[in-house]
Amino acid sequence: MMNYENPFWGEIYDLIHGGDDADVDFYLDEAMRANGPVLEVACGTGRILLRLLQLEIDAWGIDVSQPMLDRLAEKARRLGLQARAVRADMRAFTLSQRFALIIVPFRSFLHLETKEDQLAALSCFRKHLAPDGRLALNFFAPVAEALAGGGGGLRLGREIVDAGTGRRYKAWQSVSNDHQNRRQTIDWVLQELSGGGEVVATNSLPLRLHWIYKSEFELLLKAAGFSQWSVYGGFNGEPLEGEGQEMVWIASV
Ligand SMILES: C[S@@+](CC[C@H](N)C(=O)[O-])C[C@H]1O[C@@H](n2cnc3c(N)ncnc32)[C@H](O)[C@@H]1O
Repeated sequence: MMNYENPFWGEIYDLIHGGDDADVDFYLDEAMRANGPVLEVACGTGRILLRLLQLEIDAWGIDVSQPMLDRLAEKARRLGLQARAVRADMRAFTLSQRFALIIVPFRSFLHLETKEDQLAALSCFRKHLAPDGRLALNFFAPVAEALAGGGGGLRLGREIVDAGTGRRYKAWQSVSNDHQNRRQTIDWVLQELSGGGEVVATNSLPLRLHWIYKSEFELLLKAAGFSQWSVYGGFNGEPLEGEGQEMVWIASV
């Protein structure tokens, strides 16, 4: 099962990524400046969406993975929030609402495999933007040196404890890069440990990303009907110039 189809992702995603927050202020600021409803595309378990709702922003979400959405619904219930998050594919969705801001955080756009899929998604975003609406998203800037790495087998990322259930996991990760197809495969392997430290279950969670270059994304934006955009090298408006930067895009029609 590729990407977030495996039901185990609903259980484990927040334990792996719940603390990742480098992007949070950027998306919250964008949402607070937006003059109307906000859509988070590929909202997952609500790492960003629930914070938007806590700020009483009229925020909606879509995601293709039911396990991720189930987890989001459970978290929203516990927080006493109403989450309007529905199962939909970013390449082809139709919502009655038009949005002042559409966001695609945490590199989710890179899960799209082909130019046709990328273009279909961007066109769909454009159709759902209100007049003067903005699209904000981020993904890594591909840098040859960084992509030359990988393929070194499994590395122990960290040990994780689920405070809710008491379950302990060892999280392993391997990264491989297919330059011909610009494809990065990240294999997460999660071993559940008994009290004595023996492995009692193993879950394999492969993720696939397709990296995109700056000039390529500019062409895609143009082809999808966007006419203005800015790209930064981080979440604080840094210029895009160095290695290991995140490309942060803001586009409008
Ligand atoms: C890295 S997670 C990001 C989740 C959340 N936005 C966050 O920032 O924590 C990527 C998400 O993209 C979703 N996704 C992948 N392909 C998708 C598609 N074609 N349409 C909608 N969601 C998709 C996955 O189900 C997953 O929840």
